[in-house]
Amino acid sequence: MIEDLILDHIKRLKPYQSARSLYLKQGGILLDANENPLGSVIDSEYSGISLNRYPDPKQNALRQAVSTLINVPIEKLFFGVGSDEIIDLLMRLFCAPQKDTILIVEPTYGMYLTVSEIQNVEHHICLLDANFQISTEKVISSVLPSDKMIFLCSPNNPTGNLLSEKEVEFIALSFPGIIVVDEAYIDFARDGASMINLCEKYRNVVILRTFSKAWGMAAARCGYTVADPEVILNLFKIKAPYSINVLTEKAILQAIKNNREKDIMINRIIAQKEILIEELKKISYIERIFPSDANYILIRLPMAKEIQKVLADKGVIIRDRSSQPMLENCLRISVGTSDENKKLIECLKIVSEEI
Ligand SMILES: Cc1ncc(COP(=O)(O)O)c(C=O)c1O
Repeated sequence: MIEDLILDHIKRLKPYQSARSLYLKQGGILLDANENPLGSVIDSEYSGISLNRYPDPKQNALRQAVSTLINVPIEKLFFGVGSDEIIDLLMRLFCAPQKDTILIVEPTYGMYLTVSEIQNVEHHICLLDANFQISTEKVISSVLPSDKMIFLCSPNNPTGNLLSEKEVEFIALSFPGIIVVDEAYIDFARDGASMINLCEKYRNVVILRTFSKAWGMAAARCGYTVADPEVILNLFKIKAPYSINVLTEKAILQAIKNNREKDIMINRIIAQKEILIEELKKISYIERIFPSDANYILIRLPMAKEIQKVLADKGVIIRDRSSQPMLENCLRISVGTSDENKKLIECLKIVSEEI
């Protein structure tokens, strides 16, 4: 039961309650939050946005818009200041520091580990298989009685591949804790690859999404989770009252209206990825180009660290992932514009001569 997984002090918590959250729908003369009644000092520059008033703590407009967009009930949606904030909040909801533990399936996104370290929650790891695929047996046999959460990422960062939904479903069936499936890059994958439907079947599956990638809204800092309504209610209990600001809210609502633009960009980025892969194949010293369902490509090559540094000196920044488990001599390349990718290839071609 989800209720049994939530930490007791949070179950008992009486959340901070603003008067605005009680009377939001009613409106009226707002003398409850010590705001500036005259407006903001930059009102003239942001027409139509009242920056002097606190934003909606219930995130209603955003929740409604995403509910319609992805066809998920509003009770299952919660927004964070990037999905990174939601990772942090989820861990605070379920994991008692120095008591509960988490399982991270590596190699994967580094924030699961960082957040656990910040919160003093111990982690242990289990490895993906040689194809970077998840195996239920391996994961389940690694689970400790103290594990409250398992972190998975699909498409996985930095390996780029989708995880098998069937395997994740088996894990959801046998693991009594929370399974987080981070779908930050799902928009770049084939249709139907999302595991969002697992949330309907299994109360312990939590999906993370972000506006930072395919939507091109990284600067706005906005991500969301699709989860059981009980998880959502408790996330609302522990979040900072006004976490999503008005500028972000407006920008994201506009982005959702421009949904088609996102799809066009995804197609362009995927087309660039295909071209980039073909160009990388022509570089003989690259040993391996891993398949990618995302907007980045993982490659293996000799002297990866040195090559990454030489590229950086030439003004092309890519990510060295060599220190992660299983990723010796691996670099992760985000797909750029056509010109950026050409420059990268040019540099990769001459770089081998310089080291
Ligand atoms: C797998 C994954 N999850 C989450 C995030 C964080 O996204 P946000 O910008 O929404 O915090 C990233 C960012 O790189 C990521 O790669």
